[in-house]
Amino acid sequence: MRGRVIAIVLVVAFAAAAAVVATAETTANGLPSYTNGYQKWPKINKKPITTDRLGAHGGVKNVYASKPKAGAKYPNGTVVVKTIVKPGTKYVGQFAVMRKLNGRWRFVEYTRSSAASRYSVLAQGQLCVSCHVMARANDYVFTKR
Ligand code: HEC
Repeated sequence: MRGRVIAIVLVVAFAAAAAVVATAETTANGLPSYTNGYQKWPKINKKPITTDRLGAHGGVKNVYASKPKAGAKYPNGTVVVKTIVKPGTKYVGQFAVMRKLNGRWRFVEYTRSSAASRYSVLAQGQLCVSCHVMARANDYVFTKR
């Protein structure tokens, strides 16, 4: 009986997770369409980030924001992208995204194993928030221009 309840809870949890992922349109390379054209958004890091601060996202990194901050916070609809070229590689192998909806950031990170392969989801949600909370004073965004 107890096992059955747990199984049902798991099924519901997976269904909910699938629904969240499915709401965002995915492009051919596996990234959500709301990140399209990020290369042309203003870069908010002064120069490529090569430090491994807090042990997160090692490599050569650049951060792009689709909208500027309005006062202390980024407006709804803002998408912030961090591209990561992992040590010893020459292509963007990890792609971290924050997207603000209804005043809250959604976090998802994607990964791929070659310049030609599709991205898939690496991690998302609370794991990301647990560290980004340290940047709360700057609206959860570590990088400042
Ligand atoms: C252990 C801490 C830590 C965790 C966990 C973490 N990040 Fe970050 N993140 C950082 C730091 C520090 C930066 C600043 C740039 C840098 O040094 O790489 C950053 C930068 C970013 C940026 C660029 C905007 C900014 O804040 O500068 C995005 C987007 C991002 N992370 C997404 C994610 C996602 C998505 C996850 C979860 C899958 C995640 N992060 C997990 C520490 C973390």
